[in-house]
Amino acid sequence: MIHLSGLHKDFYVKEGVVAALREINLHIAEKEFFVLLGPGGSGKSTLLRCIAGIEDPDGGTMSLGGRVMFSGKDGIKVPPERRQLGMVFQSYAVWPHLSVFENVALPLRYGANSVGPQQLKERVMSALELVQLEKLAQRPVPFLSGGQQQRVALARALAIRPKVLLMDEPLCQRRRQIVPDGGVKVYQSG
Ligand SMILES: Nc1ncnc2c1ncn2[C@@H]1O[C@H](COP(=O)(O)OP(=O)(O)OP(=O)(O)O)[C@@H](O)[C@H]1O
Ligand SMILES: [Mg+2]
Repeated sequence: MIHLSGLHKDFYVKEGVVAALREINLHIAEKEFFVLLGPGGSGKSTLLRCIAGIEDPDGGTMSLGGRVMFSGKDGIKVPPERRQLGMVFQSYAVWPHLSVFENVALPLRYGANSVGPQQLKERVMSALELVQLEKLAQRPVPFLSGGQQQRVALARALAIRPKVLLMDEPLCQRRRQIVPDGGVKVYQSG
C-alpha cells in the first residue's frame, strides 16, 4: 500500500544541517496498522508530513497503492489533496473561528475532494457520529475540551474517506486546547 524507498530529508538551520530522515525504506501493507515509535526529534512527524505531501523530501520515492506520489529522480510530486490521505496533526490544526461542523466540512468544500451540499452534510454528520460529536456540530471549536478538539481533527481526516489515515501522536498525553480567548492551553491528561 505505502512503499518508501531511500527517502531522505534535511533541514537547514542556523547551526547547520539537521538530517531528519536518512534513507527510509518501508513497506506498509493494505489494512496494516503501522506504528512509528521514536524519541522526540527523531523524524516521525517529518516522515508523516512527507507521506502526506505537505513536506517535500530531498530524494527517494514514495508510492501509494502502486501509484508514484513522489520521486526525486523523476521529478514527480502529487499534491496532498490528490493523495487520498487523511491526516490528524500533532497540534490538531483545527480552525478556532469555525464551528465543529465547518471544520470537518472544509476539505469537502474545496479542491479535489469537494462534494455537493447534500453529500457534504451527510459526510460531515457521519464522520461526527463516528467520533461521537454529532450533538456538538454547531459549537465553536474553542468551546470544546482538548480531547474533543482532537476528535474534530480525526473526523475531518475521515470525512474525505481516505485510503490511508495518518495520525501524528493520536494518543499523546500532552493535550493542547484552543481556548476562547484565542490562546492555547497545554496540559497533561490521564
Ligand atoms: N521546519 C523545520 N526546520 C528545521 N528543522 C526541523 C523542521 N521540522 C523539524 N525539524 C527538525 O527535524 C528533526 C525531526 O523533527 P520531527 O518533528 O520530525 O520529530 P518527531 O520525531 O516528530 O519529534 P516529537 O516526538 O517531538 O514530535 C528534529 O531535529 C527537528 O528539530
Ligand atoms: Mg512529532
